[in-house]
This record gives sequence, structure tokens and C-alpha cells, in this order.
Amino acid sequence: MQKLRLITWCLTANIILLTLHSGAKAANKEEPITVVVTADKMLDVAKGTFLNHPQITIRNGRIVAVEQVGATIPAGARKIELPGITIMPGFIDMHVHLTSDPHYGGYRGLEFTDNFWTAVGVANAKKTLDAGFTTVRNVGSSNYDDVAIKQAIEERQIPGPRIIPATYAIGATGGHCDTTEFPPSLTVPTPGVANGPDEIRATVRKLRKYGAEVIKFCATGGVFSKTDSVSGQQYSLLEMKALVDESHMLGLKVAVHAHGASGIKDAIRAGADTIEHASLADDEAYTLAKQHGTWFSMDIYNDDYILAEGEKNGTFPESLEKERMIGLKQRQSFKNALKAGVKMVFGTDAGIYPHGDNARQFKTMIDWGMTPIQAIQAATVNAANALGRTADVGEIEVGRYADIIGVKGDPLNDVTLLQSIKFVMKSGEVIKEIK
Ligand code: ARG
Repeated sequence: MQKLRLITWCLTANIILLTLHSGAKAANKEEPITVVVTADKMLDVAKGTFLNHPQITIRNGRIVAVEQVGATIPAGARKIELPGITIMPGFIDMHVHLTSDPHYGGYRGLEFTDNFWTAVGVANAKKTLDAGFTTVRNVGSSNYDDVAIKQAIEERQIPGPRIIPATYAIGATGGHCDTTEFPPSLTVPTPGVANGPDEIRATVRKLRKYGAEVIKFCATGGVFSKTDSVSGQQYSLLEMKALVDESHMLGLKVAVHAHGASGIKDAIRAGADTIEHASLADDEAYTLAKQHGTWFSMDIYNDDYILAEGEKNGTFPESLEKERMIGLKQRQSFKNALKAGVKMVFGTDAGIYPHGDNARQFKTMIDWGMTPIQAIQAATVNAANALGRTADVGEIEVGRYADIIGVKGDPLNDVTLLQSIKFVMKSGEVIKEIK
């Protein structure tokens, strides 16, 4: 009887799912299959050069030709003309938290029910895409919210970028990836907390099972955790090795939250793919990163926002104190890492500052030593490389998704133009039109 009921339930659920799915397909049908985009210029982000009067042909969301105006246009193609616009590939932010909002600092977040944050994430997904970020890596959220938002975007229920979800960030008891703001009698679920190689391996397996496509862990303390030291190491090299080994075995890359030098270095030695923050990295860390091919993803705009708005937002005083300790050092370290030749990707930690403002970091990266094209490469070709997704994203190139954004003017002359994106296309679908 029980079994029968289960079968009936499964059948009903399947019918509902099939109906929803064919609904989504029907909506898709109205989209033309071939689209041709023309513009004033195209920034070839790999070469750092411009192509005049580009003509991009797109079929079923992927680029099939990159030519110049005058080349043949397939019959029946929908034409999108962007006069006066410079196009480039959609940006990739390697470090966001869609379900976080900086305005609810300290204990303010406790006023809301758990799924409030899912709704916040839905709104932020739209803001992110409208800002020209067509791909993001969400490196930590509760309740598998990032998987839910990703699924809703892919089912075309809501607009948003392509998401690589990490689900929960993994970390040691009492560390940055644990909840450090409650008294002992108040226990909250912490599915990302794991201690020792075995527990860590099991946690990686569990998170992958429920949708993680990248594994994030905390190697050191952090700014926004209440009771730890920002620079202190929180996993041993042995623990990190187990985590990276397990993740790589499952085909997942590893992103490591690390501010302090010893944690950064052990994470690199353990084989991590990207070091997030990297605030107090030293010369030995740069050398190791170069030896191992490890990417740095440094959120160097954040400091401005936290120091200006943190108090108003209710941020813990302990966090503000820690920010004052590392903010400037992180920027100096960015400059030094760059000089040393460490490979860089663009990661903002949006959620710490408002989503949709992701592109503000380009200017900070230039103020601290990058050329405009280097900063743009960090958010395109480099990010695609670090993700292992060069077949899909990061360049306007045959075979990749038609993720195309446009600005008015020359972004190599003025990177702040990237803060007001005029045109956004994701997988051949127009998200933001020129007005
Ligand atoms: N999520 C990071 C942390 O709590 C944010 C650090 C922000 N500060 C900075 N200077 N990047 O540690």
C-alpha cells in the first residue's frame, strides 16, 4: 500500500515536472534560432585589441561566427544593431554571495525567516546579470539556496547569471565558516562544519551530492566572523590536502578563503585552485602560487564600502576592527602579487557590498597596479581558465555561449564605463536593451 502510494506520488510529481518543463520549452520556441549582433567595436579581451564593426552570429545561444559587417547574414536571422557600442564578453565574478545583503549586518539578519535569504538571492541574481555579469561563482550560502536559484534561472523562472554553486562553505568548528556569533546554548545547523580528514571528505561528498559544483573552504579566520582572528590558520595542511584531494577526485575545483600567510601557503601546497582574499600573502606565497599555478581572487574594492557603510549597516565592531587591520595590507599585497606575476581573477565578494555594483572593483584594480585590459582579462579569459570553462565563457569566440555585453565608449580609456553597462545578452537572449 505504502509502496503504491509512493509510486502514485512519483508519477504525479513527474507529470507536474514534465508540464512545467514543456511550458519552459514552449516559451523558448518563440526565441529566434539565429541572431546576428552588429556593433561599433568589439574588444578582443585575449589580445587587448579592437575589431571594428563586428558581426557576431549566434545559433541556439552559442556563437557560430565572429566576422565583420559585410559578411553573409543567414536567412531569417534576427538582427540586433548596436551603433556606437563596444561589445565584449559577459563578465565573470569568481566570488559572490547572492543570498547576502550588506545592509543586514551583525545580528540584524535574525529578524527574518530562513527563506527570506532565498528571496534576497533572487533579487540579487537579476541585479548581477543587469550589471553585465553573466557568470558568477557563488562561494557559500545556506539551505542550498544557490542551487535553487541556479535551477530557477535554468528553468527560466527568474532572470540571473550562470551560477557555479558551492552550497555551504566548509570550515572548522569555531572558524570563519562556522557560526561564531551565538552563545553555546543556542545551536544552529552547520552542515559545512567538518573537522579532520575523514569528516571533511564526507562533507565534500555530501555537498557535491546536493549540487555543489565548486568546493569552498576556510583556511583562515575572517573579517565578518565575530570571534576568530582574521589571520589565524584554521585547517592543518593534512586537512586541506584531504579536502582538495577529495574535491579533485570528484572533478570539483577548490576555492579557499584565506587572509593569513600561513593558511594561504598551506592551501597552495595542498593544491587549491583559487585563493580568495589573499590579504596578508607574502613573497613566499607568491612564489608558491606561481609554482603551483594557483589563482588569486582578491576582493580589493570591499574595504572602501565596509569602512564607509559598515557601522550604519550594523556590522560587528570586531569586524570593523579587523577590516581596519587588513584593508590596506590587502591592496598592497595585490600590487605585490601582480608584480611577482601571480595569476589573477576577478572576485568581489559582492554581498559584502551591494550586488550590481560588482564592476566598481575594476577601478580599484587599476588604482593598485593593473592596466585596464589586465583587469578586464581577470573577469573574462582568466576567470574562464580558472573555472576550467574555456569552451563556454570568457570570450566572444566560436563555440562559446553568446554572453555579450556592451558599453558606450572605450573601456580601456575609462574603466568606470564598465559600471554602466548598456547592453546585456546571455546565451543569445537579450537581457538589457539599448534605450
Ligand atoms: N568575507 C570576507 C571576510 O569576512 C570579507 C573581507 C572583506 N575585506 C576585505 N578587505 N577584502 O573575511
